[in-house]
Amino acid sequence: MRHGRHAAIGVFDSGVGGLTVLKALMERLPLESTVYLGDTARVPYGTKSGEVVTRYSLANAQALLEYDIKALVVACNTASAVALPALEAQLPIPVIGVIVPGAQAAAKATRNGKVAVIGTPGTIASGAYQAALAAAAPSMEVHARACPLFVPLAEEGWTEGAVPQLVAEKYLGGDFLGGVDTLVLGCTHYPLLAQIIQGVVGPKVTLVDSAKATAERLVEVLRERELTRLERGAVERHYLVTDTPARFLEVGARFLGRPLSGARQIDLHVK
Ligand code: DGL
Repeated sequence: MRHGRHAAIGVFDSGVGGLTVLKALMERLPLESTVYLGDTARVPYGTKSGEVVTRYSLANAQALLEYDIKALVVACNTASAVALPALEAQLPIPVIGVIVPGAQAAAKATRNGKVAVIGTPGTIASGAYQAALAAAAPSMEVHARACPLFVPLAEEGWTEGAVPQLVAEKYLGGDFLGGVDTLVLGCTHYPLLAQIIQGVVGPKVTLVDSAKATAERLVEVLRERELTRLERGAVERHYLVTDTPARFLEVGARFLGRPLSGARQIDLHVK
């Protein structure tokens, strides 16, 4: 067991998607060990109620605490949108969600004060991005839309060609964008479709991916709490899943951009 600066960063998501966030964390904080939990037995979270996602999120956090983590990153946008207050209230360590860092990055990026956000039905219905964007810049005009089909497309690897193109046009065409100059990719899976999305919204719209902004926020939190690991040492990468690991390892390699070393199946104590 390791404590303080030597402990690992815990990261959870509903499944593989959060590996896009883990990737950003590993790039920004290469000395830190990580324990990633994908709740692959219960994915997707994006179409479930806030109450259920909160229960699953608390169970994920409890499982990660057994690994003596020093901070928890909620990589899942849906869980960040609905479960952050409950997680913060119950955990003895800092909890970092992806919504506020993403909203702040969008507020910085926009030049005309018009921002759009896309995410799962749960994320968009929660109003969490809309509230975080309003808090970051009160006069901002915010457009929001759920784009649920982007999740299975990214998992199937259908990230280019006619099918994702049509889906993206359907979601992002028409009046939805209404002159925005910034679009927040408010879901773990959407960075894989960034090229298609950029093609549909046009080169003048800046795409904001919360992963990098979340990694920066984690750097700040570790520094403030004096939890940053200072010296080099063996960096550990653990992957935990709640369903059998085969599909996670296969699809996850695409999300992480490198092969995964292996994953251990665990049981969650979901109340
Ligand atoms: N990880 C989820 C999110 O970022 C997308 C997948 C799901 O619906 O569980 O909202």
